[in-house]
Amino acid sequence: MPKVTVHRKAHFNSAHRLYRKEWADEKNSQVFGKCNNPYYHGHNYELIVSVKGEIDPETGFVMDLSILRGLIKSEIEDYFDHKNLNIELEEFKDLNPTAENISVVIYNKLREKISQDLELSIKLYETPRNFVTYSGE
Ligand code: NI
Repeated sequence: MPKVTVHRKAHFNSAHRLYRKEWADEKNSQVFGKCNNPYYHGHNYELIVSVKGEIDPETGFVMDLSILRGLIKSEIEDYFDHKNLNIELEEFKDLNPTAENISVVIYNKLREKISQDLELSIKLYETPRNFVTYSGE
C-alpha cells in the first residue's frame, strides 16, 4: 500500500526562561537574549504532529485522526498549556525549555502512544518564523 503522511495541528501557550544557573548573568543574557528574562515570558506554540505509514486497506486511514487529536489533547495540550515549563514540568527541571528540547519531550510522550508501524515527526513553532522539527533521530 502507498505510504501517506497525515498531519494534525495543535496549539498551546507556555511560559519559560532560558538560562544556565552556573553561568554569570551577563553570559546568560548574551546567549539567550530575551528568552533569558528572569521574570519569564510566554510563547504561543504551534505544533504540527505528522504520522506516516501505509494506508489501512479496510479503513483507508493511516491513523484515525480523531484518535490522534485525542492523544495530542490529553498528552500535550493539557500538559503544556498555560504552564510555566521551568517550574511546573518535571522534564525541564534540569533541561532548558528551548523549542528543540520541547520538541523532543513532545515526541517521546506521543511515541509511546502511537503504533511502532507508524513514523512520527514533530514540527514546533515557537514564533511564526522560528520552528524546529524532530523525528526521533
Ligand atoms: Ni522565549
